Amino acid sequence: MHITLAPMEGVVDAPMRRVQAAIGGPDAMVTEFVRVTEHLLPAKVFHRLVPELNHPFCGYGEVPLTVQLLGSNPEMLGVNAVRAIELGAPAIDLNFGCPAKTVNKSMGGAIMLRNPQSVFDAVKGVRSAVDPQYSVSGKMRLGYEDKTLALENAKAIEEGGAAYLTVHARTKVEGYKPPAHWEWIARIRESVSIPVVANGEIWTPEDYQRCKEVSGCDRIMIGRGLVANPFLVEQIRNPEASRDPAYNWQRLKPYLLGFFEDVSASIDERHVHGRIKQWLTMLGWHFPQAKELFQQLRTERELQGVARVLYAECTPVEEPPKSRQLPS
Ligand SMILES: Cc1cc2nc3c(=O)[nH]c(=O)nc-3n(C[C@H](O)[C@H](O)[C@H](O)COP(=O)(O)O)c2cc1C
Repeated sequence: MHITLAPMEGVVDAPMRRVQAAIGGPDAMVTEFVRVTEHLLPAKVFHRLVPELNHPFCGYGEVPLTVQLLGSNPEMLGVNAVRAIELGAPAIDLNFGCPAKTVNKSMGGAIMLRNPQSVFDAVKGVRSAVDPQYSVSGKMRLGYEDKTLALENAKAIEEGGAAYLTVHARTKVEGYKPPAHWEWIARIRESVSIPVVANGEIWTPEDYQRCKEVSGCDRIMIGRGLVANPFLVEQIRNPEASRDPAYNWQRLKPYLLGFFEDVSASIDERHVHGRIKQWLTMLGWHFPQAKELFQQLRTERELQGVARVLYAECTPVEEPPKSRQLPS
């Protein structure tokens, strides 16, 4: 069993990765994409997006954090990959799935899947530039408009020299609309000889099992499901683990406070409120308690107000000392 926390721009940043690592779920993580255009990016850009580069090992304990690059210029991807490795990245992943208009307009992300040659060139450019001891991988959707080039793109990633391939089992046009087409991951897995990581629409231990069965993959990547329920990996690994949202909400509270403190320390004060609301919205897909907390926070305008509500909800109520307890 090998579970990777998915890269999610604007959602799975360093504070979220820290929560996930502290809860002890994933075996590996991937950063939000670092966008590469026509320049060698300064080190400070990598450090801003990947503060873990300052750790002695870029990751959390045994859990490595792969740095993801997004771009279409093979040479520029190559030099930026080398820079990321020099700064401490343990591995490089390449994004062939981003649906964002701005990114696709400059021929990066999912639009590259219209042209498997460009996918091959990008992987090859990075693979040739980076020392062979570091892994280079690719992450793709099933296509842009349709799935006709899915196998060709997977082969392009393999032939470019990728160590493994992650497949988000939907086209760009399908967006994030369920279902994810896990059966297509099986077709891809059968057509390449590198390991394939299955991704898309895993929300419960049952989804995880079905995805493994349908795709035939041992390695799975989970995004929204893990942000909404950070105990999901625990529940997948241990069928005895509690799946009671009320119980797990209590366990989550200290992490929620830690996240608030981390976010407050790392981003502009004006954006903290938005990040807390964003996570609560996603937590609300799994925990009814998060929806209630969101309602309490909704009208708060000042950071102090947000802090007050969060601390009131999440600080454990201490038992009074024995000597002060009333006789029963
Ligand atoms: C808000 C958001 C941001 C994302 N950012 C990235 C990204 O930076 N790089 C990437 O390869 N995929 C990105 N993805 C796609 C996810 O990694 C993943 O493939 C997708 O969410 C499907 O997995 P899930 O159903 O487990 O969430 C993003 C998805 C979302 C919802």
